[in-house]
Amino acid sequence: MPQQVRGVIARAKGSPVELTDIVIPDPGPGEVVVAVRACGVCHTDLTYREGGINDEFPFLLGHEAAGTVESVGEGVDSVQPGDFVVLNWRAVCGRCRACKRGRPQYCFDTFNAAQRMTLTDGTELTPALGIGAFADKTLVHAGQCTKVDPAVDPAVAGLLGCGVMAGIGAAVNTGAVSRGDSVAVIGCGGVGDAAIAGARLAGATTIIAVDRDATKLEWAAGLGATHTVNAAETDAVAAIQGLTGGFGADVVIDAVGRPETWKQAFYARDLAGTVVLVGVPTPDMRLEMPLLDFFSHGGALKSSWYGDCLPERDFPMLVELHLQGRLPLDRFVTERISLHDVEKAFHTMHSGEVLRSVVVL
Ligand SMILES: NC(=O)c1ccc[n+]([C@@H]2O[C@H](COP(=O)([O-])OP(=O)(O)OC[C@H]3O[C@@H](n4cnc5c(N)ncnc54)[C@H](O)[C@@H]3O)[C@@H](O)[C@H]2O)c1
Ligand SMILES: [Zn+2]
Ligand SMILES: [Zn+2]
Repeated sequence: MPQQVRGVIARAKGSPVELTDIVIPDPGPGEVVVAVRACGVCHTDLTYREGGINDEFPFLLGHEAAGTVESVGEGVDSVQPGDFVVLNWRAVCGRCRACKRGRPQYCFDTFNAAQRMTLTDGTELTPALGIGAFADKTLVHAGQCTKVDPAVDPAVAGLLGCGVMAGIGAAVNTGAVSRGDSVAVIGCGGVGDAAIAGARLAGATTIIAVDRDATKLEWAAGLGATHTVNAAETDAVAAIQGLTGGFGADVVIDAVGRPETWKQAFYARDLAGTVVLVGVPTPDMRLEMPLLDFFSHGGALKSSWYGDCLPERDFPMLVELHLQGRLPLDRFVTERISLHDVEKAFHTMHSGEVLRSVVVL
């Protein structure tokens, strides 16, 4: 029987989100209904609300989530009712050109549920990033459910579903940070701080946090930054060079995603160093630089989609490291809120007072 539950939707561009009744179909072949336990508030939810992703309103928002499998459809054998899972937006297909070449982290045809969740009048909802988890329950593809140790706090585990994984992966997977490396991270929100935690986990010895906000820099130090640079007061490039023997860092991660921060990342790295762009630029942004600088600095200029993660490989491992006390993921949860507070959380996010607000159910 289809079930009626509560969900947070964005009905039209720019208008405040609403908590309303939604209908969850029974899971069809390959699908799973998950009872959501926690879901973080990410910038991308706000971008959907502002019409920045596409025009397929109404959206069912929320995508950084963990929950308990309630029921599974035909042919699902990877999870069963009662399993504790983190939801992901990279359920790899195994057959696209990226998957076939052994690069599933770039999968171009990821799986989502085939059926739609709806409003009570039958209007189809578009789930954010194919998840839609600001809701009591959600319908996803089985491949979007990754089993992890149920001993972990759901509010912490859910964050691995997007921003925190993107940040850790930007350092560990895309940037391939290794023992003894120097790393600088520009922008120390949830994603940048996760990159800092990732760099520490990978053995970087110099980890430089750059932000314009003193509170963010304090939090970054708590997550493993060995040095902090306030970009509102100091030239970030000169400061990073100064902290790395005048050379620049081996890996510089731009977790803001603006032309000026990317340029800083470019010039703040050592010769043959790596730039990782994990912050997401907007379509109007442009960059003008001497082409010769690209040649003469050498190295690698990379972008990181979802931290180049593979959920089945990375989520259980990161949960284990957290449970062993080696990855302080709990520090990303600044506040716990209810489904009623998502609109307010968007404002808190804008004012920069939080790393993550997490809806707990
Ligand atoms: N690549 C991916 O797969 C992926 C996944 C999730 C999020 N993201 C993106 O990562 C970015 C960061 O997300 P977040 O949740 O950490 O956002 P956030 O707003 O919490 O953090 C951004 C931080 O950058 C700082 N900042 C802004 N301008 C700066 C500047 N000029 N110099 C130094 N610091 C500056 C802010 O003070 C803030 O602390 C966003 O663009 C988001 O869309 C990417
Ligand atoms: Zn694929
Ligand atoms: Zn997100």
